[in-house]
Amino acid sequence: MSNRLKVTPNDLSAFWMPFTANRQFKQAPRMFVSAKDMHYTTTDGRKVLDGTAGLWCVNAGHCRPKITEAIASQAGELDFAPTFQMGHPIVFEFANRLVDIAPAGLNHVFFTNSGSESVDTALKMAIAYHRAKGDGSRFRLIGRERGYHGVNFGGISVGGIVNNRKLFGTLLTGVDHLPHTHLPAKNAFTRGQPEHGAELADDLERIVALHDASTIAAVIVEPVAGSTGVLVPPKGYLQKLRAICDKHGILLIFDEVITGFGRLGTPFAADYFGVTPDIMITAKGVTNGVIPMGAVFVKSAIHDIFMNGPDHLIEFFHGYTYSGNPIACAAGLGTLDTYKEEGLLTRGAELAAHWEEALHSLKGEPHVIDIRNIGLVGAVELEPIPGSPTKRAFTAFVKAFERGALLRTTGDIIAMSPPLIVTKGQIDELIDHVREVLRMTA
Ligand SMILES: Cc1ncc(COP(=O)(O)O)c(C=O)c1O
Repeated sequence: MSNRLKVTPNDLSAFWMPFTANRQFKQAPRMFVSAKDMHYTTTDGRKVLDGTAGLWCVNAGHCRPKITEAIASQAGELDFAPTFQMGHPIVFEFANRLVDIAPAGLNHVFFTNSGSESVDTALKMAIAYHRAKGDGSRFRLIGRERGYHGVNFGGISVGGIVNNRKLFGTLLTGVDHLPHTHLPAKNAFTRGQPEHGAELADDLERIVALHDASTIAAVIVEPVAGSTGVLVPPKGYLQKLRAICDKHGILLIFDEVITGFGRLGTPFAADYFGVTPDIMITAKGVTNGVIPMGAVFVKSAIHDIFMNGPDHLIEFFHGYTYSGNPIACAAGLGTLDTYKEEGLLTRGAELAAHWEEALHSLKGEPHVIDIRNIGLVGAVELEPIPGSPTKRAFTAFVKAFERGALLRTTGDIIAMSPPLIVTKGQIDELIDHVREVLRMTA
Protein backbone atom coordinates (compact mmCIF):
# COMPACT_ATOMS: atom_id res chain seq x y z
CA MET A 1 0.00 0.00 0.00
CA SER A 2 1.39 3.39 -0.86
CA ASN A 3 1.93 5.90 1.91
CA ARG A 4 -0.78 8.01 0.36
CA LEU A 5 -3.42 5.38 1.10
CA LYS A 6 -2.28 4.79 4.66
CA VAL A 7 -2.94 8.39 5.65
CA THR A 8 -6.55 9.26 6.41
CA PRO A 9 -7.86 12.57 5.03
CA ASN A 10 -6.89 15.43 7.31
CA ASP A 11 -4.62 13.26 9.40
CA LEU A 12 -2.42 15.86 11.11
CA SER A 13 0.66 13.73 11.60
CA ALA A 14 2.46 14.16 8.27
CA PHE A 15 2.97 17.91 8.48
CA TRP A 16 5.88 18.72 10.83
CA MET A 17 4.86 22.22 11.80
CA PRO A 18 7.47 24.99 12.01
CA PHE A 19 8.09 26.84 15.29
CA THR A 20 5.15 24.98 16.85
CA ALA A 21 4.53 22.73 19.83
CA ASN A 22 3.39 20.00 17.38
CA ARG A 23 1.98 17.50 19.86
CA GLN A 24 0.04 20.09 21.77
CA PHE A 25 -1.32 21.70 18.58
CA LYS A 26 -2.48 18.41 17.13
CA GLN A 27 -4.46 17.60 20.29
CA ALA A 28 -6.49 20.83 19.90
CA PRO A 29 -5.83 22.33 16.47
CA ARG A 30 -6.44 25.98 15.70
CA MET A 31 -7.26 26.21 12.00
CA PHE A 32 -8.15 28.99 9.61
CA VAL A 33 -9.99 28.20 6.39
CA SER A 34 -10.48 31.65 4.88
CA ALA A 35 -9.68 35.30 5.39
CA LYS A 36 -10.92 38.70 4.27
CA ASP A 37 -9.57 42.14 5.13
CA MET A 38 -9.10 42.23 8.94
CA HIS A 39 -10.52 38.79 9.75
CA TYR A 40 -9.79 35.12 9.53
CA THR A 41 -12.52 32.47 9.62
CA THR A 42 -11.95 29.25 11.54
CA THR A 43 -13.02 25.71 10.62
CA ASP A 44 -16.01 26.10 12.93
CA GLY A 45 -17.05 29.33 11.19
CA ARG A 46 -15.88 31.84 13.81
CA LYS A 47 -14.43 35.20 12.78
CA VAL A 48 -11.05 36.02 14.33
CA LEU A 49 -9.68 39.57 14.28
CA ASP A 50 -6.15 39.53 12.89
CA GLY A 51 -4.00 41.33 15.47
CA THR A 52 -0.72 40.26 13.91
CA ALA A 53 -1.09 40.77 10.15
CA GLY A 54 -0.76 37.00 9.79
CA LEU A 55 2.89 36.70 10.77
CA TRP A 56 3.81 40.42 10.58
CA CYS A 57 3.29 40.33 6.83
CA VAL A 58 -0.27 40.92 5.61
CA ASN A 59 0.06 44.70 5.82
CA ALA A 60 -2.79 45.46 3.39
CA GLY A 61 -5.17 42.95 4.98
CA HIS A 62 -6.39 39.68 3.54
CA CYS A 63 -7.49 38.61 0.05
CA ARG A 64 -7.21 42.08 -1.44
CA PRO A 65 -8.59 42.16 -5.00
CA LYS A 66 -5.67 43.93 -6.71
CA ILE A 67 -3.30 41.26 -5.41
CA THR A 68 -5.42 38.18 -6.05
CA GLU A 69 -6.30 39.39 -9.55
CA ALA A 70 -2.66 40.15 -10.39
CA ILE A 71 -1.64 36.65 -9.28
CA ALA A 72 -4.42 34.94 -11.24
CA SER A 73 -3.72 36.77 -14.47
CA GLN A 74 0.06 36.36 -14.22
CA ALA A 75 -0.32 32.62 -13.55
CA GLY A 76 -2.19 32.28 -16.84
CA GLU A 77 0.26 34.37 -18.83
CA LEU A 78 3.83 33.65 -17.74
CA ASP A 79 4.00 31.22 -14.85
CA PHE A 80 7.77 30.87 -14.55
CA ALA A 81 10.78 32.17 -16.37
CA PRO A 82 14.38 31.91 -15.22
CA THR A 83 16.25 35.00 -14.09
CA PHE A 84 19.67 33.34 -14.47
CA GLN A 85 20.96 34.69 -17.79
CA MET A 86 17.33 35.32 -18.85
CA GLY A 87 14.70 37.86 -17.86
CA HIS A 88 11.06 38.85 -18.07
CA PRO A 89 9.69 42.39 -18.02
CA ILE A 90 7.70 42.26 -14.79
CA VAL A 91 10.75 41.62 -12.59
CA PHE A 92 12.45 44.76 -13.89
CA GLU A 93 9.24 46.75 -13.49
CA PHE A 94 8.83 45.55 -9.91
CA ALA A 95 12.45 46.35 -9.01
CA ASN A 96 12.00 49.89 -10.35
CA ARG A 97 8.77 50.36 -8.43
CA LEU A 98 10.46 49.20 -5.23
CA VAL A 99 13.43 51.52 -5.70
CA ASP A 100 10.94 54.40 -6.17
CA ILE A 101 9.62 53.97 -2.62
CA ALA A 102 12.92 52.98 -0.97
CA PRO A 103 15.03 55.44 1.04
CA ALA A 104 17.14 57.61 -1.26
CA GLY A 105 20.32 55.92 -2.41
CA LEU A 106 19.11 52.31 -2.15
CA ASN A 107 18.92 51.94 -5.90
CA HIS A 108 19.29 48.23 -6.63
CA VAL A 109 17.25 45.22 -5.62
CA PHE A 110 18.20 41.53 -5.37
CA PHE A 111 15.23 39.16 -5.08
CA THR A 112 14.98 36.16 -2.76
CA ASN A 113 12.09 34.05 -1.45
CA SER A 114 12.06 34.86 2.25
CA GLY A 115 13.49 36.95 5.03
CA SER A 116 16.02 34.25 5.91
CA GLU A 117 17.30 34.16 2.34
CA SER A 118 17.42 37.94 2.21
CA VAL A 119 19.57 37.95 5.35
CA ASP A 120 22.06 35.44 3.99
CA THR A 121 22.12 37.31 0.67
CA ALA A 122 22.93 40.57 2.44
CA LEU A 123 25.70 39.01 4.55
CA LYS A 124 27.30 37.46 1.46
CA MET A 125 27.02 40.73 -0.43
CA ALA A 126 28.77 42.60 2.38
CA ILE A 127 31.72 40.22 2.51
CA ALA A 128 32.00 39.99 -1.28
CA TYR A 129 31.79 43.79 -1.59
CA HIS A 130 34.85 44.32 0.58
CA ARG A 131 36.74 41.64 -1.28
CA ALA A 132 35.79 43.16 -4.66
CA LYS A 133 37.18 46.45 -3.32
CA GLY A 134 40.47 44.75 -2.51
CA ASP A 135 39.65 44.63 1.22
CA GLY A 136 39.40 40.87 1.57
CA SER A 137 40.41 40.83 5.24
CA ARG A 138 37.00 42.24 6.19
CA PHE A 139 35.03 39.06 6.88
CA ARG A 140 33.62 39.53 10.36
CA LEU A 141 29.90 40.05 10.87
CA ILE A 142 28.51 41.78 13.93
CA GLY A 143 24.95 41.01 15.03
CA ARG A 144 23.15 41.79 18.26
CA GLU A 145 21.81 39.87 21.23
CA ARG A 146 18.05 39.25 20.88
CA GLY A 147 18.33 39.84 17.14
CA TYR A 148 16.22 37.64 14.86
CA HIS A 149 17.46 37.28 11.31
CA GLY A 150 15.64 34.16 10.20
CA VAL A 151 16.77 30.58 10.47
CA ASN A 152 19.44 29.94 7.87
CA PHE A 153 23.02 29.44 9.05
CA GLY A 154 24.09 33.03 8.37
CA GLY A 155 21.01 34.42 10.05
CA ILE A 156 21.25 32.29 13.20
CA SER A 157 24.97 33.07 13.46
CA VAL A 158 24.42 36.83 13.60
CA GLY A 159 21.10 36.38 15.41
CA GLY A 160 20.97 36.49 19.18
CA ILE A 161 18.33 33.97 20.27
CA VAL A 162 19.82 31.07 22.15
CA ASN A 163 17.14 28.49 21.27
CA ASN A 164 17.62 29.19 17.57
CA ARG A 165 21.39 28.68 17.85
CA LYS A 166 22.27 26.11 20.48
CA LEU A 167 21.19 22.95 18.63
CA PHE A 168 23.01 23.53 15.42
CA GLY A 169 26.69 22.99 16.05
CA THR A 170 29.29 25.26 14.60
CA LEU A 171 27.78 28.40 13.21
CA LEU A 172 29.59 30.97 11.09
CA THR A 173 32.94 31.89 12.54
CA GLY A 174 34.10 35.47 12.81
CA VAL A 175 30.84 36.66 14.33
CA ASP A 176 30.45 38.92 17.36
CA HIS A 177 27.41 40.49 18.97
CA LEU A 178 26.42 43.90 20.28
CA PRO A 179 24.44 43.96 23.51
CA HIS A 180 20.66 44.14 23.17
CA THR A 181 18.90 47.38 24.03
CA HIS A 182 16.18 46.08 26.34
CA LEU A 183 16.54 47.99 29.62
CA PRO A 184 13.26 47.44 31.50
CA ALA A 185 14.62 48.82 34.78
CA LYS A 186 15.08 52.22 33.12
CA ASN A 187 12.64 52.22 30.22
CA ALA A 188 9.56 50.23 31.27
CA PHE A 189 6.24 51.58 29.93
CA THR A 190 7.98 53.97 27.54
CA ARG A 191 5.76 55.34 24.79
CA GLY A 192 7.73 55.31 21.55
CA GLN A 193 11.52 55.49 21.69
CA PRO A 194 13.12 55.03 25.12
CA GLU A 195 15.29 57.77 26.62
CA HIS A 196 17.96 55.42 27.94
CA GLY A 197 20.40 53.19 26.09
CA ALA A 198 21.91 55.11 23.14
CA GLU A 199 25.32 54.50 24.70
CA LEU A 200 24.91 50.75 24.06
CA ALA A 201 25.87 51.51 20.45
CA ASP A 202 29.32 52.48 21.73
CA ASP A 203 29.94 48.81 22.36
CA LEU A 204 30.72 48.64 18.66
CA GLU A 205 33.88 50.63 19.44
CA ARG A 206 34.85 47.93 21.97
CA ILE A 207 34.32 45.24 19.32
CA VAL A 208 36.36 47.25 16.83
CA ALA A 209 39.14 47.64 19.39
CA LEU A 210 39.11 43.88 19.97
CA HIS A 211 39.07 42.66 16.36
CA ASP A 212 40.30 45.75 14.46
CA ALA A 213 38.07 47.51 11.96
CA SER A 214 40.10 46.08 9.09
CA THR A 215 38.55 42.65 9.82
CA ILE A 216 34.90 43.73 10.09
CA ALA A 217 32.61 43.62 7.06
CA ALA A 218 29.23 44.61 8.44
CA VAL A 219 26.94 45.23 11.36
CA ILE A 220 23.41 43.84 11.06
CA VAL A 221 20.50 44.93 13.25
CA GLU A 222 16.73 45.11 13.11
CA PRO A 223 15.90 48.82 13.53
CA VAL A 224 13.13 47.65 15.89
CA ALA A 225 13.71 44.09 17.10
CA GLY A 226 10.39 42.38 16.35
CA SER A 227 10.48 38.68 17.12
CA THR A 228 12.09 39.07 20.53
CA GLY A 229 9.29 41.29 21.69
CA VAL A 230 9.21 44.69 19.96
CA LEU A 231 12.36 46.29 21.33
CA VAL A 232 12.28 49.91 20.22
CA PRO A 233 15.72 51.49 19.75
CA PRO A 234 16.67 54.11 22.33
CA LYS A 235 16.75 57.70 21.08
CA GLY A 236 19.99 58.32 19.17
CA TYR A 237 21.07 54.66 19.17
CA LEU A 238 20.77 53.99 15.43
CA GLN A 239 22.39 57.34 14.57
CA LYS A 240 25.36 56.35 16.74
CA LEU A 241 25.66 52.95 15.08
CA ARG A 242 25.63 54.65 11.66
CA ALA A 243 28.36 57.10 12.73
CA ILE A 244 30.62 54.38 14.16
CA CYS A 245 30.19 52.22 11.05
CA ASP A 246 31.06 55.20 8.82
CA LYS A 247 34.11 56.02 10.92
CA HIS A 248 35.50 52.52 10.46
CA GLY A 249 34.38 51.67 6.91
CA ILE A 250 31.93 49.02 8.16
CA LEU A 251 28.69 48.42 6.23
CA LEU A 252 25.45 48.90 8.14
CA ILE A 253 22.68 46.43 7.31
CA PHE A 254 19.11 47.00 8.47
CA ASP A 255 16.90 43.94 8.63
CA GLU A 256 13.52 45.49 7.81
CA VAL A 257 11.64 42.24 7.30
CA ILE A 258 9.07 43.39 9.87
CA THR A 259 9.54 47.17 9.86
CA GLY A 260 9.47 47.50 6.05
CA PHE A 261 6.36 48.52 4.10
CA GLY A 262 4.62 50.86 6.49
CA ARG A 263 4.77 49.18 9.87
CA LEU A 264 6.12 52.30 11.63
CA GLY A 265 3.95 54.77 9.70
CA THR A 266 6.70 55.47 7.17
CA PRO A 267 7.56 53.28 4.18
CA PHE A 268 10.64 51.91 5.98
CA ALA A 269 12.16 52.24 9.45
CA ALA A 270 15.12 53.94 7.78
CA ASP A 271 12.72 56.78 6.91
CA TYR A 272 11.29 56.87 10.42
CA PHE A 273 14.66 57.15 12.13
CA GLY A 274 16.39 59.20 9.43
CA VAL A 275 19.19 56.64 9.22
CA THR A 276 19.93 55.01 5.87
CA PRO A 277 21.71 51.66 5.91
CA ASP A 278 24.04 50.47 3.15
CA ILE A 279 21.96 47.32 2.67
CA MET A 280 18.29 46.95 3.57
CA ILE A 281 16.70 43.53 3.94
CA THR A 282 12.98 43.07 3.32
CA ALA A 283 10.47 40.24 2.78
CA LYS A 284 6.94 39.70 4.18
CA GLY A 285 5.16 42.97 3.24
CA VAL A 286 6.86 43.09 -0.16
CA THR A 287 4.05 40.86 -1.46
CA ASN A 288 1.66 41.40 1.45
CA GLY A 289 2.85 37.97 2.58
CA VAL A 290 0.78 36.34 -0.14
CA ILE A 291 3.52 34.80 -2.28
CA PRO A 292 6.91 34.04 -0.70
CA MET A 293 9.40 36.73 -1.67
CA GLY A 294 12.22 38.80 -0.25
CA ALA A 295 14.02 41.84 -1.60
CA VAL A 296 17.48 43.12 -0.63
CA PHE A 297 18.11 46.79 -1.41
CA VAL A 298 21.67 48.07 -1.87
CA LYS A 299 23.36 51.35 -2.47
CA SER A 300 24.86 51.98 -5.91
CA ALA A 301 28.34 52.12 -4.41
CA ILE A 302 27.98 48.47 -3.39
CA HIS A 303 26.28 47.26 -6.55
CA ASP A 304 28.70 49.11 -8.83
CA ILE A 305 31.83 47.57 -7.27
CA PHE A 306 30.68 44.21 -8.62
CA MET A 307 30.11 45.57 -12.12
CA ASN A 308 33.65 45.33 -13.39
CA GLY A 309 35.73 42.69 -15.10
CA PRO A 310 34.84 41.22 -18.49
CA ASP A 311 31.20 41.82 -19.46
CA HIS A 312 30.47 38.16 -20.13
CA LEU A 313 31.34 37.01 -16.61
CA ILE A 314 28.81 36.58 -13.81
CA GLU A 315 29.52 39.29 -11.23
CA PHE A 316 27.93 37.76 -8.11
CA PHE A 317 27.78 33.99 -7.69
CA HIS A 318 24.51 33.94 -5.84
CA GLY A 319 20.79 33.63 -6.59
CA TYR A 320 17.77 31.39 -6.19
CA THR A 321 15.70 29.55 -8.80
CA TYR A 322 12.75 31.68 -7.78
CA SER A 323 14.58 35.05 -7.47
CA GLY A 324 12.10 37.40 -9.16
CA ASN A 325 9.51 34.72 -9.93
CA PRO A 326 6.87 36.31 -12.20
CA ILE A 327 3.91 35.42 -10.02
CA ALA A 328 5.63 36.81 -6.92
CA CYS A 329 6.42 40.00 -8.86
CA ALA A 330 2.77 40.28 -9.93
CA ALA A 331 1.69 39.87 -6.32
CA GLY A 332 4.25 42.54 -5.38
CA LEU A 333 2.95 45.00 -7.97
CA GLY A 334 -0.63 44.40 -6.83
CA THR A 335 0.59 44.99 -3.28
CA LEU A 336 2.36 48.26 -4.11
CA ASP A 337 -0.75 49.46 -5.99
CA THR A 338 -2.90 48.67 -2.97
CA TYR A 339 -0.48 50.37 -0.58
CA LYS A 340 -0.42 53.44 -2.81
CA GLU A 341 -4.15 53.75 -3.47
CA GLU A 342 -4.99 53.42 0.21
CA GLY A 343 -2.03 55.38 1.57
CA LEU A 344 -1.05 52.37 3.68
CA LEU A 345 2.68 53.06 3.84
CA THR A 346 1.97 56.13 5.97
CA ARG A 347 -1.41 55.20 7.49
CA GLY A 348 0.31 53.88 10.61
CA ALA A 349 1.34 57.45 11.45
CA GLU A 350 -2.32 58.53 11.57
CA LEU A 351 -3.22 55.64 13.86
CA ALA A 352 -0.09 55.60 16.02
CA ALA A 353 -1.41 57.90 18.77
CA HIS A 354 -4.64 55.90 19.10
CA TRP A 355 -2.68 52.64 19.07
CA GLU A 356 -0.32 53.92 21.77
CA GLU A 357 -3.18 55.10 23.99
CA ALA A 358 -5.10 51.83 23.60
CA LEU A 359 -2.05 49.67 24.25
CA HIS A 360 -0.93 51.61 27.32
CA SER A 361 -4.43 51.41 28.78
CA LEU A 362 -3.37 47.83 29.66
CA LYS A 363 -0.97 49.17 32.30
CA GLY A 364 -2.13 47.91 35.67
CA GLU A 365 -3.84 44.81 34.27
CA PRO A 366 -2.79 41.50 35.91
CA HIS A 367 0.89 40.55 35.46
CA VAL A 368 1.71 43.35 33.00
CA ILE A 369 5.32 44.43 33.65
CA ASP A 370 6.03 46.49 30.51
CA ILE A 371 4.31 47.91 27.44
CA ARG A 372 6.19 49.11 24.33
CA ASN A 373 4.99 50.65 21.08
CA ILE A 374 6.06 52.42 17.93
CA GLY A 375 4.11 53.05 14.74
CA LEU A 376 1.54 50.26 14.48
CA VAL A 377 3.40 47.63 16.43
CA GLY A 378 3.44 47.00 20.15
CA ALA A 379 4.11 44.50 22.91
CA VAL A 380 2.81 43.72 26.36
CA GLU A 381 5.32 41.93 28.56
CA LEU A 382 3.99 39.67 31.32
CA GLU A 383 5.50 38.45 34.53
CA PRO A 384 6.40 34.78 33.89
CA ILE A 385 4.76 32.09 36.01
CA PRO A 386 7.54 30.93 38.36
CA GLY A 387 9.02 27.70 36.97
CA SER A 388 6.88 27.84 33.79
CA PRO A 389 8.26 30.55 31.54
CA THR A 390 6.20 31.32 28.38
CA LYS A 391 3.10 29.60 29.78
CA ARG A 392 1.29 32.75 30.86
CA ALA A 393 1.57 34.42 27.46
CA PHE A 394 0.77 31.22 25.59
CA THR A 395 -2.39 30.72 27.65
CA ALA A 396 -3.41 34.30 26.85
CA PHE A 397 -2.79 33.61 23.15
CA VAL A 398 -5.03 30.51 23.18
CA LYS A 399 -7.78 32.24 25.15
CA ALA A 400 -7.66 35.24 22.81
CA PHE A 401 -8.00 32.93 19.82
CA GLU A 402 -11.02 31.30 21.45
CA ARG A 403 -12.54 34.76 22.06
CA GLY A 404 -11.87 35.93 18.50
CA ALA A 405 -8.47 37.64 18.27
CA LEU A 406 -5.16 36.48 16.85
CA LEU A 407 -2.15 37.51 18.94
CA ARG A 408 1.48 36.45 18.71
CA THR A 409 3.62 35.51 21.67
CA THR A 410 7.32 35.28 22.15
CA GLY A 411 8.47 34.16 25.57
CA ASP A 412 6.11 35.91 27.99
CA ILE A 413 5.55 38.81 25.65
CA ILE A 414 2.36 39.40 23.64
CA ALA A 415 3.22 41.14 20.37
CA MET A 416 0.67 42.83 18.12
CA SER A 417 0.98 44.31 14.64
CA PRO A 418 -2.42 44.50 12.93
CA PRO A 419 -2.83 44.99 9.19
CA LEU A 420 -2.42 48.68 8.31
CA ILE A 421 -6.09 48.85 7.24
CA VAL A 422 -7.21 48.41 10.87
CA THR A 423 -9.81 50.89 12.14
CA LYS A 424 -9.68 52.66 15.50
CA GLY A 425 -12.68 50.57 16.58
CA GLN A 426 -10.84 47.36 15.70
CA ILE A 427 -7.79 48.53 17.66
CA ASP A 428 -10.02 49.02 20.71
CA GLU A 429 -11.61 45.62 20.14
CA LEU A 430 -8.20 43.93 19.93
CA ILE A 431 -6.94 45.58 23.09
CA ASP A 432 -10.17 44.69 24.92
CA HIS A 433 -9.61 41.04 24.01
CA VAL A 434 -6.15 41.26 25.57
CA ARG A 435 -7.56 42.98 28.66
CA GLU A 436 -10.19 40.28 29.08
CA VAL A 437 -7.80 37.36 28.69
CA LEU A 438 -5.35 38.92 31.16
CA ARG A 439 -8.17 39.21 33.67
CA MET A 440 -9.34 35.66 32.93
CA THR A 441 -5.87 34.23 33.51
CA ALA A 442 -5.14 36.35 36.61
C1 LIG B 1 13.69 40.69 11.24
C2 LIG B 1 13.47 39.39 10.57
N1 LIG B 1 14.40 38.89 9.74
C3 LIG B 1 14.24 37.73 9.09
C4 LIG B 1 13.09 37.00 9.26
C5 LIG B 1 12.94 35.69 8.56
O1 LIG B 1 11.98 35.74 7.58
P1 LIG B 1 11.41 34.36 6.93
O2 LIG B 1 10.62 33.70 8.00
O3 LIG B 1 10.60 34.87 5.77
O4 LIG B 1 12.60 33.58 6.49
C6 LIG B 1 12.09 37.47 10.10
C7 LIG B 1 10.84 36.70 10.29
O5 LIG B 1 10.02 37.00 11.13
C8 LIG B 1 12.27 38.69 10.78
O6 LIG B 1 11.36 39.16 11.63
